[in-house]
Amino acid sequence: MAESVAFAGGSKQERYAELLPQLAALVDGEPDLVANLANITAALRACVPIASWVGFYITRNGELVLGPFQGNVACVRIAFGRGVCGAAAAERRTVVVDDVEQFPGHIACDAGSRSEIVVPVLRGGEVVAVLDVDSYELAAFDAVDAEWLGKVAVLAATLRW
Ligand code: SME
Repeated sequence: MAESVAFAGGSKQERYAELLPQLAALVDGEPDLVANLANITAALRACVPIASWVGFYITRNGELVLGPFQGNVACVRIAFGRGVCGAAAAERRTVVVDDVEQFPGHIACDAGSRSEIVVPVLRGGEVVAVLDVDSYELAAFDAVDAEWLGKVAVLAATLRW
């Protein structure tokens, strides 16, 4: 595996483009799921400075359970259909929320959180996890983040679940 990650790009597209090969190198040859998800969250946090929290919720017995993350302590269990994470899992689609206060049922793990993006990790049509990225800024995430975090989710789906 690689020992570190670095980003020279100024734009977020450039930084995400630098991230993907580094993630592939990080997980290369390592079979442990927790270790790989942990390193992915750390690399993402370094890549996306506007993020206040980056983490995975893993599907366990039909609900989402907190997995490896970077940031403040967070809610442990989220039902499919609840909050932004549960909506992304139930609908199997990426959900971008510009203002969490406007999202019905948003789960406020961190009162400072203002916007959020959640991307499902799909294997054979099943949601094995969601990738959640939060920010203290309003409207921190857009279609660029959705596209690139979707690529991160595709990479995560290739790990040993
Ligand atoms: N806000 C999320 C819950 C997870 S935390 O933000 C880490 C939600 O509404 O699903």
